[in-house]
Amino acid sequence: MKKLEGKVAIVTGSSRGIGKEIAMKLAQEGAKVVVNYSRSPEKAEEVVNQIKQQDGEATAIQADMNQVDQIQQLVTSSVEKYGQLDILVSNAGIEHFGKLEEITPQDFERVFSVNVAGQLFVTQAAAPHLSSGGRIVLTSSVSARFAAFYHTLYAASKAAVSAMVLNLAPELGERGITINAIAPGGTATDMAQENAERYTHPALQNVSPDALLKSQIILQRLAQPEEIAAAVAFLVSDDASYITGSTLAVDGGMF
Ligand SMILES: NC(=O)c1ccc[n+]([C@@H]2O[C@H](COP(=O)([O-])OP(=O)(O)OC[C@H]3O[C@@H](n4cnc5c(N)ncnc54)[C@H](OP(=O)(O)O)[C@@H]3O)[C@@H](O)[C@H]2O)c1
Repeated sequence: MKKLEGKVAIVTGSSRGIGKEIAMKLAQEGAKVVVNYSRSPEKAEEVVNQIKQQDGEATAIQADMNQVDQIQQLVTSSVEKYGQLDILVSNAGIEHFGKLEEITPQDFERVFSVNVAGQLFVTQAAAPHLSSGGRIVLTSSVSARFAAFYHTLYAASKAAVSAMVLNLAPELGERGITINAIAPGGTATDMAQENAERYTHPALQNVSPDALLKSQIILQRLAQPEEIAAAVAFLVSDDASYITGSTLAVDGGMF
């Protein structure tokens, strides 16, 4: 018996990167998966096709995680399609770098609307459909605990996620639902690739990326998205029945 047989899961932002691997992993464990995306219908359909080729079940649904009406529609459509909801993985997120004097109210709105409000309102929309044993996993980041130049807005948005799961845990716990966050470290995805140079301390621009990784990460390499997905699959399984309100670091031992 697969660990998530009979369960239905929504994974936000699962057309690419970490979310894609979470969707694949939950499907391999037997869950029916809603593959949410914002702008990449072809990539989302590819994920659905890959899941189906492995005898899993999935469907792609477009919804922008910064639009509350679209978030509600995502949850409604998922429940209509599969008749139930057991697992929410809120993975969609966007990166931001900017000096203090360059951050605009529009930047703040853009980053916090996806990384904080989107994660809160998808939890709010999903929670009424979950029953005892239901699982919610939100996405924080190693950035909430480690300083980096010009990373304030993103890091603050990810720190908010850990506070949200901590404080939502009591009210969801009354109904037997757990809520946790994962805090990935540097993970080999489009997001990491697009921002690789900006993660580096300005004084260390001449040091090779490999040397930098070795000096900051105990395991001396980036994570593969599958390694983050494995941690999420644990948190949404029965094996994690006594874990709630936590933020699980999956960062190769960053120091
Ligand atoms: N990669 C890292 O090193 C790292 C480290 C720590 C935490 N994280 C967090 O992990 C999560 C996934 O990161 P990633 O590296 O896999 O990112 P990514 O490669 O940029 O992929 C982002 C995914 O989120 C979706 N998305 C973006 N904005 C969305 C929106 N408004 N509504 C719905 N979906 C949206 C994208 O969909 P489309 O394809 O349709 O645009 C895509 O599927 C994020 O929350 C990120 O902050 C990443």
